[in-house]
Amino acid sequence: MLIFTNENNPAVLKLLISANFAQKPVKIIQNDFSGEVETAVNEWLEWEFTVLAPNLAHVIGAGSKNEKVKSSLTGAFKKLNEALRSRPYLTQDKLNASDIVVWSILYPLSQDDALSKEYLAENSNVVTTKAYQALSYGAMYLAPITPIVENGIRQSPQHQPEVVTNEELEAAKKAWLLEPDQIPKLKNQQKVVLPKPNEKNILITSALPYVNNVPHLGNIIGCVLSADVFARFARICNYNTLFIGGTDEYGTATETKALEENMSCQAICDKYYAIHKDIYEWFNISFDHFGRSSTPQQTELCQDLFLQLNDNGFMFTEPVEQLYCENCQRYLADRFVEGGCPHPECIYPDARGDQCDGCGKLVNAIELKNPRCKICRNTPKLKISSQFFIDLPKLEPLLLHWMKKSAPGWSNNAQVIGKSWLREGLKPRCITRDLKWGVTVPLKDFKDKVFYVWFDAPIGYMSISKAYTQEWEKWWRPAPECSITLYQFMAKDNVPFHAVMFPACLLGTNRGYTTVSHIMATEYLNYEDGKFSKSRGVGVFGNDARETGIPSDVWRFYLLYVRPESQDSSFSWSDLATKNNSELLNNLGNFINRALVFAKNNFNKTVPEMKLNKDDFTLLALCTRELKGYVSSLEKSKLRDGIRHILSISRHGNQYMQANQPWVLLKGSPEEKIRAGTVIGVCCNIACLLATLLHPYMPETSETLKKQLNSTNTALTPENIRIIQLLPAGHKLGEPAALFAKLELSRVEELKKMFAGRNGDTTNACDKPVQPKKATATKVNNQKNTVNANNTVENNENNVCNKNPGEIAKLEEAISKQGTVVRELKASGVGKTEWQPELSRLLELKTKLANLLGTPIVDGKKGKKKK
Ligand SMILES: *[C@@H]1O[C@H](CO)[C@@H](O)[C@H](O)[C@H]1NC(C)=O
Ligand SMILES: *[C@@H]1O[C@H](CO)[C@@H](O)[C@H](O)[C@H]1NC(C)=O
Ligand SMILES: *[C@@H]1O[C@H](CO)[C@@H](O)[C@H](O)[C@H]1NC(C)=O
Ligand SMILES: *[C@@H]1O[C@H](CO)[C@@H](O)[C@H](O)[C@H]1NC(C)=O
Ligand SMILES: *[C@@H]1O[C@H](CO)[C@@H](O)[C@H](O)[C@H]1NC(C)=O
Repeated sequence: MLIFTNENNPAVLKLLISANFAQKPVKIIQNDFSGEVETAVNEWLEWEFTVLAPNLAHVIGAGSKNEKVKSSLTGAFKKLNEALRSRPYLTQDKLNASDIVVWSILYPLSQDDALSKEYLAENSNVVTTKAYQALSYGAMYLAPITPIVENGIRQSPQHQPEVVTNEELEAAKKAWLLEPDQIPKLKNQQKVVLPKPNEKNILITSALPYVNNVPHLGNIIGCVLSADVFARFARICNYNTLFIGGTDEYGTATETKALEENMSCQAICDKYYAIHKDIYEWFNISFDHFGRSSTPQQTELCQDLFLQLNDNGFMFTEPVEQLYCENCQRYLADRFVEGGCPHPECIYPDARGDQCDGCGKLVNAIELKNPRCKICRNTPKLKISSQFFIDLPKLEPLLLHWMKKSAPGWSNNAQVIGKSWLREGLKPRCITRDLKWGVTVPLKDFKDKVFYVWFDAPIGYMSISKAYTQEWEKWWRPAPECSITLYQFMAKDNVPFHAVMFPACLLGTNRGYTTVSHIMATEYLNYEDGKFSKSRGVGVFGNDARETGIPSDVWRFYLLYVRPESQDSSFSWSDLATKNNSELLNNLGNFINRALVFAKNNFNKTVPEMKLNKDDFTLLALCTRELKGYVSSLEKSKLRDGIRHILSISRHGNQYMQANQPWVLLKGSPEEKIRAGTVIGVCCNIACLLATLLHPYMPETSETLKKQLNSTNTALTPENIRIIQLLPAGHKLGEPAALFAKLELSRVEELKKMFAGRNGDTTNACDKPVQPKKATATKVNNQKNTVNANNTVENNENNVCNKNPGEIAKLEEAISKQGTVVRELKASGVGKTEWQPELSRLLELKTKLANLLGTPIVDGKKGKKKK
């Protein structure tokens, strides 16, 4: 037996276990099912679930006479027949999951002569497939099909109604019948958000991204976007919410970048600060303040905190050896030194100061053989200078006590990482070094030194708050009656600084600073199962996202849908397209649009009279269940789960509409017409609930929907979760319009190629700081380190300006021509061997164009005005 599978597919286990019992030899063939095929398979699976199965359920057994169902089914079989015109299986020349799923659902139909005749007579391609013929074996094993009938409506096996309890029904009824004045209103946002006594005061930070590069999608989902969803959720719960972010600007990496771009450190920071700010604005990240760490407030707070820790006896000094280049007159960061690998078994002559590319081992810069300065090639000298260390072992008991109280509220990975650091025992850490770009040490003999970026960066949260309001201490040194809950969002590599180092510093000052209650750390997001790499041009970076033309809400939706919550996950173009088309378009968008268009065409854009029966309350009870799940997921910042609850609500809505068929009822008796009105009224109300629930994830879509519903903002009440009638009978609705558009496969394929890698700069630069010998010194690396510090944004900008437009136009024309050649060949029905070479030629042209375009950062330089 052969098993074709992709990686990490648990379904394979079932096969392996069966095969083991059957004592059959098994060969596993890994297949990445990548690209077009995977998307096509997913689309068939989705189609089977949302179109084929529900329509079949209506005709099998009793044979529905509903014309709409009949025409849907006729269309469905035409589609199948068409797909099988030129190949034996649905997506390619090989059998795969889509065939199995589609054919097995056809089994009941294959057993019903009248139906087979009605739907299959004209569709011979369907009947002659091997898979369809295999269905006849089913008769030997399966009982005759008996349809499930309830309320006169046939349910397909997958769409059996979920059971709700009497209590749930009663609660739903009670909530629905509440007076409109019970609808919770959203508080107006304060101009400057300050905490208030006896209210929920939520302080939210997202890890400060390092300022020397452009963030990629992994960075965005890891901190800013996750924090944003949570902040928006907290606001719709009427909590006093302050959301702070900014760029981390000090450190070696900035100096390196400045050297590279021949700019001052300040100019580099200004430039990249603007890039970051712009990208986050495009993603609709709702910071109350997006600041930066190179401000006077930062200097003041950082020096102040240091002096307090020093006074409290948690600092000491110690001599440290470092390499110094007399020619360049600077201490050399690890990445500025090269030399022979110090590991005896390796003879590699060009090891870097932090790692050897020959043997892959970590290297201590001062142990390199024949070290040389990477800038001027001269031999650096070992110099000894005195540095400050923070005495973490002395702070450990304090930290341990604190962590017992705080850690239960952290994400699981944060708890694991935090605890493992304490288990290993803390060591003193160097917090100063001999550089210029940073906060100077405020002591006489140390004026030439600055603080290590890992020490100063987290203080940025406080200094940025201070830049936002003079009353910042209300958040960071709260009065006893004003308790603050601090949530910090980050990727997992940042946990040690937020779980150990920063709290230790704050506790050591003994000044009652706010410490974190919830460290919310994500795992890593990969790009199409590889890593993002700016230098190789692999992956989508913040600025690219806008250029794709895909709306920022769709990006947000997808990134949150695949948020690497408990394990690493991957960004995949084909999955993006599937989710865009199936979940957003077919599920969510379709439900809302059907309800609103129906109300427009049949009820004069007015919410009709509603007389709810048990079915309707059952729907409300099911949706209440999902609403509870939504709130509890978001309170724990399980953002992925939150989305799934939203989609479940619209799935319930779709099933409800399908089951009740208001379009049929409308043509019936007066009672049936009223029934149609009730169904549509309930659906409009569910749409209105969805508008609120969507706000944290897709703020623009939520706004658009509210306009279409002509509804006002309502709040969520986590302490009392229920569905109140938001749109009463007689409420005037707005103008409906499709919320989402289809993302074409061909466009996705184009984008996938565009971001699959360019011939970029491949120098390997990493932004680790100087690593003094004495202590393990690590810096606050605010971003996952897969992005090369040495990105080429500036160069690309130049590219865009210098590019020869004639050449681009020529290539575009050639691509269009070649596209026609391929399409015509394929349409003519010739074999793959004939069209494959032409297709390859097309792809070559497209890659050429993508290479030529590079990362198209077009704004800014061209004087395009930004808001
Ligand atoms: C760096 O910039 C300065 C002034 O902005 C200029 O004089 C100098 O030539 C530049 N150096 C390089 C290598 O581009
Ligand atoms: C439809 O609603 C508008 C106001 O929105 C009203 O003027 C009009 O009379 C209504 N038409 C019918 C047929 O009820
Ligand atoms: C989202 O951002 C865009 C552009 O920055 C802005 O025009 C829009 O109003 C924002 N929408 C919301 C709901 O915040
Ligand atoms: C929106 O709703 C309000 C309150 O129900 C109503 O007064 C107003 O006319 C509606 N607006 C439109 C454009 O129908
Ligand atoms: C899918 O992407 C396209 C952009 O290509 C966008 O216009 C559309 O709104 C997206 N669809 C959904 C369902 O969000």
